[in-house]
Amino acid sequence: MDRIRIVGGSKLNGTIPISGAKNAALPLMIAGLLTDETLILDNVPRLADVAQLQRILGNHGVDIMSAGKRPGDHEYQGQTLHISAANIIDTTAPYELVSKMRASFWVIAPLLARMHEAKVSLPGGCAIGTRPVDLLIMALEKLGAELTIDGGYVIAKAPGGLKGAEIDFAKVTVSGTHVALMAATLAKGTTVITNAACEPEIVDVADCLNKMGARITGAGTTTITVEGVAKLHGTRHTVLPDRIETGTYAMAVAMTGGDVQLSGARPELLQAALDVLVEAGATVTPNNDGIRVARNGAGIKPVNVSTAPFPGFPTDLQAQLMALMTTAKGSSHITETIFENRFMHVQELARFGARIHLDGETATIDGTAKLRGAPVMATDLRASVSLVIAGLVAEGETMVNRIYHLDRGFERLEEKLSACGATIERISG
Ligand code: EPZ
Repeated sequence: MDRIRIVGGSKLNGTIPISGAKNAALPLMIAGLLTDETLILDNVPRLADVAQLQRILGNHGVDIMSAGKRPGDHEYQGQTLHISAANIIDTTAPYELVSKMRASFWVIAPLLARMHEAKVSLPGGCAIGTRPVDLLIMALEKLGAELTIDGGYVIAKAPGGLKGAEIDFAKVTVSGTHVALMAATLAKGTTVITNAACEPEIVDVADCLNKMGARITGAGTTTITVEGVAKLHGTRHTVLPDRIETGTYAMAVAMTGGDVQLSGARPELLQAALDVLVEAGATVTPNNDGIRVARNGAGIKPVNVSTAPFPGFPTDLQAQLMALMTTAKGSSHITETIFENRFMHVQELARFGARIHLDGETATIDGTAKLRGAPVMATDLRASVSLVIAGLVAEGETMVNRIYHLDRGFERLEEKLSACGATIERISG
């Protein structure tokens, strides 16, 4: 199994290109099931999760071609995928595939909308919490589907097709909103989704669906209206930049000090996180090419932050912020409100000498002047990268084990960081 070796202590200076957003690319690829024409997606990140979803869609009969690089393309440019679901040969998503990636459960929505049937394995729990799918099931039932659970599978049928409905989410859910949105595009009549998630990835998917002929308004607000259409067609769409990757590198720079241009980043996608970084003492300057982040001289100031749905501080940056606060001058408090068990990084950060006390959903971090390198274990995607951030300032050597979690969501992490002066390398085997 590959590992990452880091020797801490170098400041980061240079440019980091920001990749396309994983959490937009995945639902966009799934949206390809809604049409028998080709959907072309540009700026798709080269990630293990994307490759896994290609296999899952392939199982349904979707043909996916990855276009090669064109002359003049930058080495970091995302890939272009041609997704063709002209012939859906199988409406079952088996346990072996769905259990490897939760988002693959979302195929239930386009399969049901277009094929009027789907049999999809329940995804099960994961490292960050129980993560139920009750709200997704509720949304599909509102749209007229009949759902039963048998042998660990959700079996969904809508013999006469889906029908527009009012869907009110009791809790803000990104997955629920994606599923409701995709299913409603081909339903008969109007669907109104209230208490919808406002995440930029929802807006990106809605934009793409509209280019495919859907009639969606209000994406990015808490009320989304979808006028169902009979058919969707192919289109070409560019995946928006990854706000979590952007925030992760911004926090890495705040941690090490230095000056880095996050090329292609869009500040409005993570304003709450950028505000926290400024409060912590970093200089954040939006410019034509993205966002410049710097920290010179002065230390890191402690902050108090609660995670919240967009536009609040994202849960996907909680672990990274905690790593940053381990060296702050004072005590910080971080409250996780989205997932009940997203503190797997706490015990690993402690291996660097970090002082963190957990009380329910709030972590108190007492900043310490120095972290020391250690062997650590990656647990989930964002927790893993928080260990990398800590390793970048820790004295001596850090070895991050089980890095397949990192490969799920960070493209060429070690290359991007070493190009900015970090001592970081992947050790194969
Ligand atoms: C998406 O997960 C992201 N994944 C997550 O990113 C992200 O952390 C999360 O949204 C929150 O922003 C993708 O986009 C692929 P939710 P999702 O439905 O959609 C509860 C990463 O690291 N809930 O918004 O699964 C749920 O348990 C990943 O890239 C129900 O109770 O999140 C949670 O407490 C991790 N019932 C809350 O809602 C349901 O039916 C929010 O979940 C569905 C969700």
